[in-house]
Amino acid sequence: MALERTFSIVKPDATKRNITGKVIDRLESAGLRVIASKRIHMTKEQAEGFYAVHKERPFFGELVSFMTSGPVIVQVLEGENAIAKNREVMGATNPADAAPGTIRADFAESIEANSVHGSDAPETAAEEIKFFFSDDEIVG
Ligand code: TYD
Repeated sequence: MALERTFSIVKPDATKRNITGKVIDRLESAGLRVIASKRIHMTKEQAEGFYAVHKERPFFGELVSFMTSGPVIVQVLEGENAIAKNREVMGATNPADAAPGTIRADFAESIEANSVHGSDAPETAAEEIKFFFSDDEIVG
């Protein structure tokens, strides 16, 4: 399979605990390469736009407040089968269901404060990368 790109966020619970290196080490150790990265504090508008697909869900307001509660690291990851590989390393959304050895099993605090985001399909990966990065910020 050709190289694929996916979009990743190290979430506010991880920046707050100063464990961003530990989280990113898991990604790199799985063969994913960070080809774009920046530390930002998302605005309410950015978080609402990014998670627009969830806007009717009961947890939407809390999710937006959490994602704007502190800095995050947005990244583009590249690798073979990067989208599925990243989801595998992340583990299930709820850390209580996440497989042992995954980022969420080892680091997440709750279903909301679950340390990482990763795109779930090629179309969303492309959209999410564009949402936060211009072409000249991505250096493969
Ligand atoms: P989702 O896209 O379902 O999960 P994933 O991040 O694994 O792709 O949900 C997006 C985020 O919304 C999730 O990471 C945390 C938050 N969330 C909640 O706070 N409560 C919930 O019940 C769900 C399903 C998600």
